[in-house]
Amino acid sequence: MAENEKNSGKSGEYSEEHGKSGGNGGHERSAVSVIGLGQMGTRLAQAFIAAGYATTVWNRTAAKADALVAQGAVRADTARAAVTASPLVVVCLPDYATVRDLLGPVADSLRGRVLVNLTSGTPEDATRAAEWAAGHGADYLDGAAMSGTRLVGRREALFVLSGSPRGFAEHRAVLTSLGTAVHLGPGPELAAVYDTALFGLAWGALAGFYHAVALVGAAGVDPTAFAAVATGHMPFVTSLMADHARRIEDGRFPNDDGTVEVHAAAMEHLVHTSRAHGLATDVPDLFRSLLERAAADGHGADGIAGVIGTITKGERHV
Ligand SMILES: NC(=O)c1ccc[n+]([C@@H]2O[C@H](COP(=O)([O-])OP(=O)(O)OC[C@H]3O[C@@H](n4cnc5c(N)ncnc54)[C@H](OP(=O)(O)O)[C@@H]3O)[C@@H](O)[C@H]2O)c1
Repeated sequence: MAENEKNSGKSGEYSEEHGKSGGNGGHERSAVSVIGLGQMGTRLAQAFIAAGYATTVWNRTAAKADALVAQGAVRADTARAAVTASPLVVVCLPDYATVRDLLGPVADSLRGRVLVNLTSGTPEDATRAAEWAAGHGADYLDGAAMSGTRLVGRREALFVLSGSPRGFAEHRAVLTSLGTAVHLGPGPELAAVYDTALFGLAWGALAGFYHAVALVGAAGVDPTAFAAVATGHMPFVTSLMADHARRIEDGRFPNDDGTVEVHAAAMEHLVHTSRAHGLATDVPDLFRSLLERAAADGHGADGIAGVIGTITKGERHV
């Protein structure tokens, strides 16, 4: 990072007028601009400031920028002023329609900049936004914050990004101040695909956890006591992923982690015990259904990664 991009530590105001009279043609006095200072946008701006990057901020409700200005951010008076303040523009708004409504009128000012959109949306939203940005001469990166707000600014916070490789390479250091910033490839839709896939993965694990907490709770175990044991067990579970991914790629399912039939029988015990404690069985019913369908499709003697076929409906996607 160039020294002159660093925050002076002084708070200030940055108006469109200031920008226009800046005399450097591009008006750039800032490394990064953040547009949308909700829960997530505020944390993004804080992380940039903490990493020492000169940060310009804009929010519809201007008062939400006050605390950031006190921390060293520069307030833009308008969305246009925020865009023109920096070569890197990060937006974080409720949805893509809002992004379009907000940036549409100032699209001409995006030319030559890198737009990073950390608004949640679908792969189609991302593709359309990338085309729109390209039409206005901007490099576009779509992205998703995968780790909530609390970890932002720490290595444990995962940000997935896809789209312009040049835009990512140019601003990698700034984006890395948000956490672990992973560029998935040039397709702008990839970040949204990973976002939804990882969301489902997290929910799968959490749904299993919530059911487990209910089950041990019915036997008088504290959730926190259980969580400590469960956390120690998770490295085994995650250790299976790379291995099973390879098996799915190869289309071969050795049964050294137990067969589909053995796991189906064990799942029956989970369903039975849950029912015996008066619990809902939706979660283990889902697992059992995957295993039973895999067995019915002729994969009973395969390893458990063989359930992939029940989800892809028999198609090989890889
Ligand atoms: N919060 C999380 O944990 C989290 C995690 C991952 C991803 N995300 C994603 O991050 C995005 C933002 O979420 P958030 O939690 O930060 O939302 P939020 O706290 O509700 O903030 C929404 C922001 O959008 C602004 N906004 C809303 N409508 C607007 C409009 N018509 N014109 C201009 N600005 C408008 C709001 O401005 P005002 O202040 O003026 O209302 C506010 O700055 C979402 O796509 C969300 O899915 C959030």
